[in-house]
Amino acid sequence: MVKVRLLAAALIGLAGFTHSVAVAASDGGPYTAEALLENPDKILSLLAEGVIEFEQVPNPHWRTDACNACHMGAAAAGGKMPPLRTEDIDGLCGNCHDPSMVAEYIHAVGMEPPDEFLDRMPDDFLAALERGGQVITCIMCHDLPLQCEEKRFPQQEINPFFFRGGPYTERTDLCFNCHDPEDYERYNPHDQVTDEGELDTEQCFFCHNTTPNRTVVRSIDDVSFNVAEELEKLCTGCHPYQPHPGGSWFSSTGNREGGGPNHLKVPPEKIRRRMEKMVRETGAVMPLEPETGRIFCATCHNPHERGVQYYPRADVGADGYKRLRRGKFEICMACHDL
Ligand code: HEC
Ligand code: HEC
Ligand code: HEC
Ligand code: HEC
Ligand code: HEC
Ligand code: HEC
Ligand code: HEC
Ligand code: HEC
Repeated sequence: MVKVRLLAAALIGLAGFTHSVAVAASDGGPYTAEALLENPDKILSLLAEGVIEFEQVPNPHWRTDACNACHMGAAAAGGKMPPLRTEDIDGLCGNCHDPSMVAEYIHAVGMEPPDEFLDRMPDDFLAALERGGQVITCIMCHDLPLQCEEKRFPQQEINPFFFRGGPYTERTDLCFNCHDPEDYERYNPHDQVTDEGELDTEQCFFCHNTTPNRTVVRSIDDVSFNVAEELEKLCTGCHPYQPHPGGSWFSSTGNREGGGPNHLKVPPEKIRRRMEKMVRETGAVMPLEPETGRIFCATCHNPHERGVQYYPRADVGADGYKRLRRGKFEICMACHDL
């Protein structure tokens, strides 16, 4: 039980990981993005002295013109790459990423994995471990060459944090490269009714910031959430998003090239009218994100346990196949006129 809770805490922590730095917004006087990229080891002290703002720290990832943030220069003719600025990986990243903030959420940096982890780790994890001096460093989980080489940049869409061995359908699949899945039974926020058949209101707080009063609430507009915007964040900590309706789930199908149309967008007028019609006809709900009118995860999936919803229309799909609000094929017809 302790381990289950720890994992839940870790995932909540990860989901709430706040950005310590952001993309350079504007020209910072003498401290231009170019100058900072050329002198990354000065960045932390310039920040500490208040000479530059967080927003000015340049983002070197997934681009062709910032190799010098980590390597001693750009590629030479013939493509040969100069060595890294420092052999100390954590120090290299620590130029821009506050190590204390990273450590707070992403544990185990600097630790030596126990033998049972070594038996489980795939070869490229073992190689990264050796590269880091047999202790956990940033490159254990983040596979930097993914964001180094232009031909691999399309991976950004499906694996934005360049996870080693990714993209992962479930975030915990990254964890299981080292941890024993048996010890980490996944925390299940969809389990919302106790064995005695009572509502487990503690669970509501996983997504809502107050327990919705089921008999009063009439729609998504009457409930509030732990996140202010981008409601998919309620889900992506455990189910990292890859566009999937009409596409495929990469690791579950083994097809990493897959893909498919991104559905998390505002439906055009024609589709929206069809949705409204289908909602009237089928008696199910297909809520859009209130702030933006975008389609989000719960437009298609019902995250609640069966019986939590008081109104039958909002109960449809709960605990059903993939928690879909309509059948696997019918769901497409709710929006598309095929
Ligand atoms: C955020 C830091 C960072 C940036 C920016 C970066 N690299 Fe790297 N690069 C690394 C690290 C770390 C490694 C792995 C070195 C190791 O494992 O010894 C690496 C490895 C490489 C390798 C070896 C690939 C392999 O499979 O072993 C090449 C080639 C490379 N980088 C090219 C580039 C180029 C070109 C750019 C700019 C377009 C770039 N890198 C930008 C950190 C970076
Ligand atoms: C020159 C500064 C700099 C260096 C060096 C650097 N980063 Fe970053 N990194 C950034 C910035 C800026 C962002 C964007 C943060 C944001 O959007 O809030 C970022 C974002 C990230 C992200 C999130 C992915 C993304 O694109 O937003 C990861 C993961 C990451 N860095 C890991 C690393 C690792 C691991 C290293 C060391 C090999 C490293 N970084 C070195 C500045 C840097
Ligand atoms: C044990 C695996 C692991 C290690 C080791 C690790 N990370 Fe990460 N990192 C993650 C995971 C998982 C996330 C995704 C968190 C999320 O989804 O909010 C992440 C996210 C990040 C982000 C993006 C945060 C954001 O919300 O934009 C940055 C930056 C980052 N890591 C930097 C680092 C640096 C620097 C190191 C080394 C000091 C490091 N990481 C070591 C697993 C790891
Ligand atoms: C690269 C290997 C690696 C990966 C990947 C990894 N961890 Fe760990 N983790 C460790 C090591 C090493 C320790 C220290 C364990 C020890 O010494 O027994 C640790 C410790 C922990 C602990 C402290 C409790 C314990 O079991 O000792 C938690 C919680 C944890 N990890 C969660 C996660 C989560 C969540 C993920 C995925 C996002 C993850 N880990 C991914 C290597 C890893
Ligand atoms: C995993 C996240 C999650 C958890 C946990 C959760 N909810 Fe929700 N809830 C949502 C989302 C997303 C919506 C908006 C979509 C919708 O209307 O179903 C929502 C909407 C609702 C609605 C309005 C439904 C409608 O359309 O009329 C009620 C009522 C509700 N939740 C009650 C609860 C109660 C009670 C609990 C705890 C037992 C709970 N929720 C736990 C994510 C969650
Ligand atoms: C803390 C982790 C966690 C969060 C956050 C979470 N889930 Fe889940 N989810 C699980 C677990 C564990 C299961 C498997 C158990 C089950 O089906 O009840 C699951 C199952 C599912 C399934 C069924 C998958 C299948 O293969 O049958 C869907 C769909 C789903 N979740 C959607 C969502 C949506 C939508 C949200 C956000 C509103 C969300 N989840 C938030 C952990 C999580
Ligand atoms: C437009 C509708 C739609 C949206 C939006 C959507 N999904 Fe799905 N999702 C589906 C369908 C359809 C399937 C079933 C695919 C299948 O079985 O072939 C599915 C499957 C899943 C599964 C099960 C994966 C598996 O391996 O079987 C999970 C988990 C899931 N979705 C989570 C999410 C999350 C999280 C989001 C938001 C970030 C989301 N979905 C957004 C339609 C949608
Ligand atoms: C909640 C409504 C909704 C559902 C459910 C839905 N879609 Fe979509 N779909 C959209 C929207 C909105 C677009 C973007 C249309 C645009 O940008 O013009 C889209 C785009 C697409 C596209 C890209 C081509 C095009 O017409 O623009 C395909 C292919 C697609 N959907 C397939 C599917 C499949 C297969 C399913 C069922 C598994 C599905 N969709 C379920 C709303 C939905």
